[in-house]
Amino acid sequence: MLSTSARRYLMCPPTFFDVQYAINPWMRLGERVDPARACKQWTALKTTLEALGHHVEEMSPQPGLPDLVFAANGGIVIGAKAMAPAFRFSERAAETPFYADALKQRGYERVAAPHNLNEGEGDFLLVGSTILAGSGFRSDELAAAEVGAYFGLAVVSLTLADPRFYHLDTALSVLDSNTIAYLPEAFDPASRGVLRDLFPKAILAEDADARKLGLNLVSDGANVVMSAEAPGLARAVGERGYQVHPIEFDEFRKAGGGIKCCVLSLHDAPAGEAASWAHPAVTAC
Ligand code: ARG
Repeated sequence: MLSTSARRYLMCPPTFFDVQYAINPWMRLGERVDPARACKQWTALKTTLEALGHHVEEMSPQPGLPDLVFAANGGIVIGAKAMAPAFRFSERAAETPFYADALKQRGYERVAAPHNLNEGEGDFLLVGSTILAGSGFRSDELAAAEVGAYFGLAVVSLTLADPRFYHLDTALSVLDSNTIAYLPEAFDPASRGVLRDLFPKAILAEDADARKLGLNLVSDGANVVMSAEAPGLARAVGERGYQVHPIEFDEFRKAGGGIKCCVLSLHDAPAGEAASWAHPAVTAC
């Protein structure tokens, strides 16, 4: 039986979610977003995470920032340490201070500003005590070493190769501290080799599920909240013993986003790390 403990997540309501520019292949100018549908899907995600016993912190949405809903891009948070994002496209640059403030208000006193382009948990995923770092489309290659040094953790650099899967979290999911699922074709040959060596028992996803952003999921190590439109992946995940919680999330795909994109994990320090990793005091907002 897989076990889990309560997690903390940061989410931003989709009040101002829209497609107002096109910075990835999923976005089409003129695409109409259905705000009621977006709200319903986002709320279902939040309540599903809460029903699983997790704590969801909500930050304030901001007019004029339609992608602020994608809180996974809001930074990297592990133990008491937090790093703000530095976005590749000017369209999202104004989001950074709102994410940084949201983290500060929640007890992360110092939120480091990166030197290199860094799109937060969109490209930096913690597996056990290792950070998988994606680059190729958004975060800079050099960000991997910077993130590793800041958090004091080992980093594995991976290069994304398919523009549809422009953030690491669209091509790879972390299921527990040593299990991942990924779409091999989304990575360059060298990265595929690295993933094969590091995770020989990984679930290999298929394009049909990945193109519904099925890999963009949230797992607490036992429960997997994922798109209802990725049945092949859901089956494979279920066969490994995880409890699958499918939800509809297609409204956000109009902006190239999925379930994980809307959720920033406020990770505890990895087991076995020094006491300096203790949780900061949580301040109510
Ligand atoms: N429209 C957003 C962008 O292109 C979507 C972000 C998706 N976030 C993620 N963590 N994959 O930046």
